[in-house]
Parts: sequence; structure tokens; C-alpha cells
Amino acid sequence: MNRKIGGWDEGFDPFYGAPVVLVVLAEKDWPTHVYDGSLVMGNLMLAAHTEGIGSCWIHRAKEEFESEEGKQILSDLGVTGEYEGIGHCILGYPDEEIEEAKPRKDDYVFWVE
Ligand SMILES: Cc1cc2nc3c(=O)[nH]c(=O)nc-3n(C[C@H](O)[C@H](O)[C@H](O)COP(=O)(O)O)c2cc1C
Repeated sequence: MNRKIGGWDEGFDPFYGAPVVLVVLAEKDWPTHVYDGSLVMGNLMLAAHTEGIGSCWIHRAKEEFESEEGKQILSDLGVTGEYEGIGHCILGYPDEEIEEAKPRKDDYVFWVE
């Protein structure tokens, strides 16, 4: 589903072969649901890093769980109610250890004194 929504060919795996995919959903009728779910996604990735596990946010959860197929998957799992897909957090052990954070990008943070 994710690959089709992204418009990629069959050979491409948008989850990069990750052994675990966590899906974050948020209740649609809560005004801050997208922000709340995004914070969950960020915290999942930070927690994974702390445990030495690699992670990546994979998009298109909204489209997946808006579709009939996606709603059926949720229903089969016993998840009922109006939920929006916020993101997938893929987890796995990285091929290579990254010792240091990448240098910060220029012009992303502005200091005002
Ligand atoms: C909302 C959101 C959606 C993303 N979706 C994908 C995705 O579908 N596939 C992917 O490989 N990376 C995805 N990423 C990860 C980004 O491509 C990128 O690796 C990450 O934001 C770090 O980028 P930076 O190192 O340039 O800051 C997503 C990130 C965010 C914040």
C-alpha cells in the first residue's frame, strides 16, 4: 500500500527491509492530534537511538489508513474509532555505527540577542 501511494515500482520497498514497523495513529477529533502524534514519532526515534537501534520516519500513513483496505486492517486488529495515520517508525540495527551526529545545517537556527 505504501509503495503504491508513493507511486513507486514494485521493486522498491519504502520500509527498506526493516524488521519492525511501528505505526502511530492519532484521534482525528482532537485538535492537536497531528502535533501529538508527531511528538510520539520523535520520541520513538530518540528512544530507539538510546537503545542502539536505527530508525526512520516513513510517511504516507494518513493515506493508508484513510483507505478502505487500511480501515479494514485496523478493524481486524481491533482498532476502532476515527484515527489518522501519523507515521511509521521503522526499526532495525544499522549496517554501520554512526559515532557522531552530522554537522548542523546552516541557516536552520537563528539566534536573536
Ligand atoms: C514527516 C516526515 C516524513 C518522512 N518520510 C520519509 C519517508 O517516507 N521515507 C524516508 O526514507 N524518509 C522519510 N523521512 C526521513 C527524512 O527523509 C530524513 O531522513 C529526516 O527527516 C532527516 O533529514 P535530515 O538529516 O536532512 O535533517 C521523513 C521525515 C519526516 C520528518
